[in-house]
Amino acid sequence: MPDEKSFHMTPDEFRRYGHAVVDWIADYHSRIESFPVLSQVKPGAIRASLPASAPERGEDFDAILRDIDQLILPGVTHWQSPNFFAYFPCNASGPAILGDLLSSGLGIQGMLWSTSPACTELETHVLDWLVPMLGLPEKFLSSSTGGGVIQDTASSSSLCALLAARERATNYTTNHKGCDGRIVAYASTQTHSSMQKAAMVSGIGDSNLRMIEVDEKFAMRPESLAKQIAEDKRAGLVPCLVCATVGTTSSNAIDPLSEIARICREHNLWLHVDAAMSGTAALCPEFRHLQNGVEFADSYCFNPHKWMFTNFDCDCFWVADRKALIKTLSILPEYLRNQATETGAVIDYRDWHIPLGRRFRSLKLWFVIRHYGVEGLRHHIREHVRLAQQFASWVRSDGRFELAAPTPLNLVCFRHKSGDEANQAIMDRLNRSGDLFLTHTKLDGKLTLRLCVGQTNTQERHVINAWKRICEEASKLNTL
Ligand SMILES: Cc1ncc(COP(=O)(O)O)c(C=O)c1O
Repeated sequence: MPDEKSFHMTPDEFRRYGHAVVDWIADYHSRIESFPVLSQVKPGAIRASLPASAPERGEDFDAILRDIDQLILPGVTHWQSPNFFAYFPCNASGPAILGDLLSSGLGIQGMLWSTSPACTELETHVLDWLVPMLGLPEKFLSSSTGGGVIQDTASSSSLCALLAARERATNYTTNHKGCDGRIVAYASTQTHSSMQKAAMVSGIGDSNLRMIEVDEKFAMRPESLAKQIAEDKRAGLVPCLVCATVGTTSSNAIDPLSEIARICREHNLWLHVDAAMSGTAALCPEFRHLQNGVEFADSYCFNPHKWMFTNFDCDCFWVADRKALIKTLSILPEYLRNQATETGAVIDYRDWHIPLGRRFRSLKLWFVIRHYGVEGLRHHIREHVRLAQQFASWVRSDGRFELAAPTPLNLVCFRHKSGDEANQAIMDRLNRSGDLFLTHTKLDGKLTLRLCVGQTNTQERHVINAWKRICEEASKLNTL
């Protein structure tokens, strides 16, 4: 019998090209500092360099890989550059990349325990490991009433928390009947916009998400929260959830969890804690005081894909009462029925988030934790915090600049005292130079520069150089 015609890559070809790709990635990481951090291409430039239609005949893999260098790299902003100080980081690391590659190689889909028991059980296990690693309450353990699950992003975690809170507050009737416009939830004016999106998507409506005012440190004012809840209750509305943040996106503000939790307990509200980036700091016992009160949370999330050296996407989400989440999100059509599910003895993670299908994301997280160990993770987090604090001290001692917010961890918010235009000019010139990448926010109505030290490979020399470049651009201000 002649072999059937096939266009597939053979295992031998895969091995050869796979080695080439791994070599390419290793070379990329070694030369990453030679690229401008922020891509300098104009809109449409990448598309203009690509053929108008798909190839009729398959192409040589070497040619495809060459095009990564020639066509794609110019349009890449180098998030893995140690000179990336923008937004919050989105880290990669060797062990995470390899774990992700293995996940792709296995190519499994873990929607049910039975569709790959290892996918479910490793995830449950690693999320249980993280509970004591981060000083989180024992009720989040799968052996208790709760448990953890990997979501794609913190946005999904906020949405799931809000849906479960909405159902709990309405005796699990809203999924069936729809919202009646009376359900309300609470966040601060500094809460990440994903909460607003969650209010929109969940049908609660963003006008029913109350944005509570903040204090001079940009943290939620508990007394304003209590007042708003009381007002809403008097008006016959149904409060369901408060979202508190450990490390807001704009300024890394820390909401007072203990006081917020007391108010939530008084009114039987779901407390969701969003610690998307700063949660990683809790690996170090000396930073855990920032999350005092987390023991009262109904749900909590942080993103290892931000600061814990784990490739995007990986958000860890825990609930104290898994039954509330499962009751909210579970649907069992006939074609997914199976014996393991019927026994009730297994976790089916499809009931813990919005999508049905799921990748084997815990592999990369497991690799990261095993490669670094708690000791290695703590070492790098402490070093990032030390460098950010050092940067803040340089800002403080330079009369031209001021700090715009407290610096509890690794984000420094600062500005040149000459006003918005000057700060915009400094930032634009730095970003155009390609030497580093910073972004901005507005605090107290003023344009503020944000420098976040958190990229996997950022070292002291990179932060020293960032400050040197900022000072150089500041000294050119008069001549602009
Ligand atoms: C505090 C906070 N929450 C949520 C998010 C949204 O993150 P994701 O992209 O994982 O949805 C961010 C992103 O920076 C964030 O800083």
